Amino acid sequence: MTPEMDEADLLASARSALAGLTLPGGVPLLEAPSVSGPVVSGGRLSLAISITADQAASYGDIRHRAEAALRAVPGGERAIVVLTAVKTPAAPPDLAQTKAKAPAPKPPVLSGVRHVVAVASGKGGVGKSTTSVNLALGLRALGLKVGILDADIHGPSLPTLLALHGQPRVGKDRRLRPMQAFGLQAMSMGLMVDQETAMVWRGPMVMSAITQMLSDVDWGELDILIIDMPPGTGDAQLAIAQGTDLAGAVIVSTPQDLALIDARRGIAMFRKVDVPILGVIENMAHFICPDCGGQHALFGQGGAEAEARRLGAPYLGAVPLTMELRAASDSGQPIVALDPDGTLGGLYTGMAGTLWSSLEGALTSEQKTIEGV
Ligand SMILES: Nc1ncnc2c1ncn2[C@@H]1O[C@H](COP(=O)(O)OP(=O)(O)OP(=O)(O)O)[C@@H](O)[C@H]1O
Ligand SMILES: [Mg+2]
Repeated sequence: MTPEMDEADLLASARSALAGLTLPGGVPLLEAPSVSGPVVSGGRLSLAISITADQAASYGDIRHRAEAALRAVPGGERAIVVLTAVKTPAAPPDLAQTKAKAPAPKPPVLSGVRHVVAVASGKGGVGKSTTSVNLALGLRALGLKVGILDADIHGPSLPTLLALHGQPRVGKDRRLRPMQAFGLQAMSMGLMVDQETAMVWRGPMVMSAITQMLSDVDWGELDILIIDMPPGTGDAQLAIAQGTDLAGAVIVSTPQDLALIDARRGIAMFRKVDVPILGVIENMAHFICPDCGGQHALFGQGGAEAEARRLGAPYLGAVPLTMELRAASDSGQPIVALDPDGTLGGLYTGMAGTLWSSLEGALTSEQKTIEGV
């Protein structure tokens, strides 16, 4: 039997297993327009049910029953059924066409936020999350009201970096209140979705989940919201770039050529959707040896600055590779909070100042009056 036949058999069995199930309200599950699937991908059955935020509780039972029915099918043991927050769009946006479209209206939930800035890179592991947190704290040290959102559904890191514990509070309006950490309003997709469920989300599902989750959080009044972006330049990044009316993006890159190629891709994506590049930061620029104090350019040096110049994007500065920074991040005590007056604290606060001035012009004296920092 060919794999196609196996797949067709599995789908046929899946459909008959689901045949008797109905959604709350009585619509047969297989006929409901809010249901996508079942589909087979990577040998695994999956089904998505689109719901509105207030349907979440009443749809829990059908999600379980549909999943149990699929898992009882031979070959369906790893089946998964997910509730997605809004109706899944028919197709992911086409990058080539997005520029022609009218800009998405700013979601009303972000209306109290003066500027939304994404911290991004084409490549993973270059230090976006570390940079986001410390830049956010640098902005806070300038006296600004700052929020930070970890938008990486598949690998959230803010709970570790900011030592966030517990669950966000839900207000009377059923919207989530950000958590407080080091004077920042913080929220992580990792606190909002079940990790196992999110692992199988792809393309449109990730997009609709992100858009919905953004509107589920009540940020209140903020001067700036920093979004720690997931790595890459795919649908999730586009959903955020378009769904949040970004004031701009900061690109983080290490100096290696490979990272720079990816950084260039990241810059191109934001430019395509008319999001200005507010700055490029070279991270892990050089290694400061804890023994001899000497500087070693492990990955070369100055690549990001040259690239920024080539692309006409502002260069914000270089952050060294240090044990101190890594240890601080891993222990949930970001370096800017731990040692605001140290070399690294000063470096991030300086870059935060440059970023803020490019958004707003010079700081007002009122904003310079630092409260409780
Ligand atoms: N300048 C630095 N010096 C030392 N360690 C660093 C530095 N920047 C980042 N790191 C460490 O490198 C690792 C990756 O950093 P981080 O998680 O910030 O990257 P990322 O780009 O957000 O990754 P991902 O793409 O997985 O989201 C972490 O362990 C972090 O502590
Ligand atoms: Mg990260």
